[in-house]
Amino acid sequence: MDDSRATDDRAASRAGAEDHLAPDDRFTLDDRLPADYFTATLHADVRRGLGGTPRTLPPKWFYDERGSDLFEEITRLPEYYPTRAEQEILDRRAVEIATLTRAATLIELGSGSSRKTRLLLDALTAGGTLRRYAPLDVSATALEEAGRAICRDYPGLRVAATVADFEGGLALSDEPGPRLLAFLGSTIGNFDEEQRAAFYRTLALSLTSDDVLLLGADLVKEPEVLVRAYDDAAGVTAEFDKNVLHVLNRELGADFDPAGFDHVAVWDAEHERIEMRLRSRRAQVAKIPGLDLSVDFAEGEDLRTELSCKFRRETLTAELKEGGFTVRQWWTDAAGRFALLLAVPN
Ligand code: AVJ
Repeated sequence: MDDSRATDDRAASRAGAEDHLAPDDRFTLDDRLPADYFTATLHADVRRGLGGTPRTLPPKWFYDERGSDLFEEITRLPEYYPTRAEQEILDRRAVEIATLTRAATLIELGSGSSRKTRLLLDALTAGGTLRRYAPLDVSATALEEAGRAICRDYPGLRVAATVADFEGGLALSDEPGPRLLAFLGSTIGNFDEEQRAAFYRTLALSLTSDDVLLLGADLVKEPEVLVRAYDDAAGVTAEFDKNVLHVLNRELGADFDPAGFDHVAVWDAEHERIEMRLRSRRAQVAKIPGLDLSVDFAEGEDLRTELSCKFRRETLTAELKEGGFTVRQWWTDAAGRFALLLAVPN
């Protein structure tokens, strides 16, 4: 993060050449998912997760169109503070982030909705260093929509979108540096300790000493506040949780009865994480013809659908260090609920 960079001049001349390009000519979409990605991973995930005990499903299957809409609705709930808290930090720190990183490329993992991204894009374009926005997501349609809109609103910015599942590794290609890699929303909390360690190592391998990681992480706080954030009064999170059953019914011809399950949010004090679960209201069997599988649920048996780990400064700093990153900045919202940090490869 120093000021004298040879890359600045090259980036500037490159930008000059692209200023006159029409918005759609500044957008590219590189689909790196194998054609059978959805079916193959869904099958493997469901077989592994529902075949074992306790029964689990990875949270990524929440997000079909309805699930993504429900998540957007969650971010506006009074109980769900993380989105607003992170937004508050970004509002306050975006300019500082731009000054400290002088990023030529903003890479965003799991980009989703672009409200927070725009705060970063505004600051980085105002700072004059940004040439390229490189969002990575598993949803091609989300990338198309958000990417083309950003091209229209940021003249001269190239948007190089990649359809990829970053769990399998990050193939960052020729993005100009320095690069700022943003992983926001505390999505990192969906990974357990082991998955996080693997993720940091993958990131550290893809980044150079010029690059910076921007990570959003939700913090440990009173269990009642956390549980309410994941079990809201209006029942939106319950709907979101049960949506995964609708996804399995549609994609695999399964016959889950969403009304046969209760949504519960449990605070696991030992691991300092919220677990979302679907609790079977009665003994029942779900058939999954697509997998030639049938799953028995006892009354009161839980299907774990999501982990949402909460963090502390010391332990998160330590696990990043272990994973190859040194934390350089640590900011929280005024209420101290959420952290945004900048870290550089060791
Ligand atoms: C987007 C994964 C960070 O864990 O808080 C919100 C998803 N689940 N309410 C989270 C979520 C239930 C969210 N992440």
